[in-house]
Amino acid sequence: MSWQIEYARNVFKRWPVRAVVGLAGHIAVCGLWAAIAGYAFLTSMSPLSTGLVVAVWIALAIATVVGGVAFWVWELGRRTKKSVKKNFDVLPAIETPRLILRKPVSAEAASLEATIDDVMRDSNGWTKETGKAHVDAVRGGGPTPGVYVMVLRSTSTVIGGAFVLPVSGRRSARSLGWWVGPNHRGSGYATEAVDALVEAIHVAGYLTVEIKTTESNLAVQRICGKIGAAEVDRRPHTLPNGTTVSAIVFDHQPLVADPHLRTLTEPN
Ligand SMILES: CC(C)(COP(=O)(O)OP(=O)(O)OC[C@H]1O[C@@H](n2cnc3c(N)ncnc32)[C@H](O)[C@@H]1OP(=O)(O)O)[C@@H](O)C(=O)NCCC(=O)NCCS
Repeated sequence: MSWQIEYARNVFKRWPVRAVVGLAGHIAVCGLWAAIAGYAFLTSMSPLSTGLVVAVWIALAIATVVGGVAFWVWELGRRTKKSVKKNFDVLPAIETPRLILRKPVSAEAASLEATIDDVMRDSNGWTKETGKAHVDAVRGGGPTPGVYVMVLRSTSTVIGGAFVLPVSGRRSARSLGWWVGPNHRGSGYATEAVDALVEAIHVAGYLTVEIKTTESNLAVQRICGKIGAAEVDRRPHTLPNGTTVSAIVFDHQPLVADPHLRTLTEPN
């Protein structure tokens, strides 16, 4: 339950009123059951000494608070997982000739960490903390919104990762970002993974796949060219480490009306 506790603590810090209301509600539900149980127990056992009756009610009150807190933390975690699955983790596991692209499991945290080197961090504008936060989330077994790993089918090794995320203001689009670890670059893995991810995003019902990169990232531009993504914009973009770079935005759309794709139009 550790990631759930961490999550509940964050909810308390960010939305204290919402947290108190939620907590009070869960304690009240537990309190109701405790009162019914206490009443049934005491009436079936009476006559009992006043001391014992008081002790039973005190024990039930403590159990109510502890149970209510645990219930709220668990419920918050359950709802968060459900919401992340619905809104972020929109792709099934995908197999390509050499790779499996799927959600990470906690045992893969260390191998995922090994794929995040300085080149990866610099290309994405990540700080050390950004990478650590993602790896910790995987290790903790909690939700990892939009994160997928690239796993080598031959060895089951994690060789890279990808993000598939909503795009603000474009309901029928998903953004795609990716990286390959230092030991596996230059072997066509990114091209193979991106090709499959783009198709899977369209099949999941999204008209557009948005890929954003920097003007200096020639590998990503080359991959965009190979998969048929079109440059649609160049604009300054602020990265997680605070630097502002000149970004190129590519859009990929299905070439033909694919009967497997849901018909979607871009909302204005
Ligand atoms: C960019 C990255 C994902 C490419 O992964 P990869 O598996 O090595 O890529 P591929 O082997 O599929 O190569 C893709 C194409 O880019 C080209 N390419 C690779 N590195 C290049 C570079 N530094 N300069 C120019 N072209 C390059 C390859 O030659 C290939 O083109 P080709 O098929 O015409 O020969 C990888 O280098 C990486 O993880 N970099 C750090 C993170 C990053 O930049 N992520 C993208 C952020 S948007």
